[in-house]
Amino acid sequence: MKRHGVRAAAVSLMLLGAATASPMAAAVDLPSDVDFPHRDSPEARVYRGSIVFSNYCVLCHGQNADGKGRAAKLYTPPPANLRKSDKTDEYKELIIRRGGAPMARSEFMPPWGAELTEEQISDVVSFLRSIAPEDAPR
Ligand code: HEC
Repeated sequence: MKRHGVRAAAVSLMLLGAATASPMAAAVDLPSDVDFPHRDSPEARVYRGSIVFSNYCVLCHGQNADGKGRAAKLYTPPPANLRKSDKTDEYKELIIRRGGAPMARSEFMPPWGAELTEEQISDVVSFLRSIAPEDAPR
C-alpha cells in the first residue's frame, strides 16, 4: 500500500515535469528505490487508463465515473454510471471506439476511435474494470 503511494507520487512528479514547458523541468529527481510497474502489467494499464479517463471522460461521466459530470445535465439519457455498468468489457470497448449512435445508444456518447489510440482505449477499459464491482459482467 505504502509503496503504491510512493509510486503514484513519483509518477505525478513526472507528469508535473512534463506539463511545464521548460526542458530542464523534465529532470526531476526520482527516488532511486522506486520500482515502476512493467508497462504491460495490469497495474500500469489501470493507471494509464485513469489518466485517459480524467482527460476525456470526466466532463460527462464525472470524477467518480458515476455519471455525474459537470455536463451531465445537458444529456438525456444521462451519461452512464460507469461504476454500475451491466455491460461487458468488449461492449465498452466498442461503444468507446464507435460512440453511442452506431450502438443504438445516445449520439451524445462521442466516438473516440479517431482520437484515442488502441492502447488508450484498452487502458481505459482496464480502468473501468478496476472500479467495477466484483460481480459485474466481464
Ligand atoms: C459528451 C458527453 C460524454 C463524454 C465526454 C463521454 N461520454 Fe460516455 N456516455 C455518454 C452518454 C450520454 C452515455 C449514455 C448513452 C445511452 O445511455 O444511450 C454514455 C455511455 C457510455 C458507456 C456505456 C456504459 C453502459 O453501461 O452502457 C461507456 C462505456 C462510456 N460512455 C464510456 C466513456 C468513456 C471511456 C469516455 C471517455 C473516453 C466517455 N464515455 C466520454 C456521454 C459521454
